[in-house]
Amino acid sequence: MPSLVDDGVEHLRLPAWAQVSDGRRGHIARVTALLDAWAVAMRIDAEEHRAWVDAGRLHDALRDAPEAELRALSGLDREAETLHGPAVAALLEREGERRRSVLDAVRYHTVGSPAWDRTGRALYMADFLEPGRRFWPRDRAFLAAHVPHDFDGVFRQVLRARLEYSLREGHSLFPETVELWNAVR
Ligand SMILES: [Fe+2]
Ligand SMILES: [Fe+2]
Repeated sequence: MPSLVDDGVEHLRLPAWAQVSDGRRGHIARVTALLDAWAVAMRIDAEEHRAWVDAGRLHDALRDAPEAELRALSGLDREAETLHGPAVAALLEREGERRRSVLDAVRYHTVGSPAWDRTGRALYMADFLEPGRRFWPRDRAFLAAHVPHDFDGVFRQVLRARLEYSLREGHSLFPETVELWNAVR
């Protein structure tokens, strides 16, 4: 299946309720382009390809929304940075989105989920490996290039890197994240 995002950044369709800065829009475009490129390289079917691209396009749609709004939408009481995924999923469901793979990919993209299919795992990798992030440019580019050849292996490495970072920084770990690691290590 050909690329779904060849028309470029300015045509990234975000929902009317999206709240994103210009910088964030660039991140969303890069994540989506990476997912699209992997889907093309892996020759996945049209339905899953669409799910990957939609998950990338929508995952941070409320990343710059006020914390109170995210708390109200998600109904969750936990760290502010982890609320935007559940908040977007809640709004998408309200609008009639029924694709479980897209909803779960978006909902859990910050913490991970052991129940994820490939869409959730692909988004989790793309969010971390997109080329606009400053850290580990060479290692991350290497991993991004290897996703089509070793999807599960790269996923494990990305998850491990993110867990190691969380531990080093003294962040708390979510039960879903630990369960995910135990399922794939
Ligand atoms: Fe995010
Ligand atoms: Fe993101």
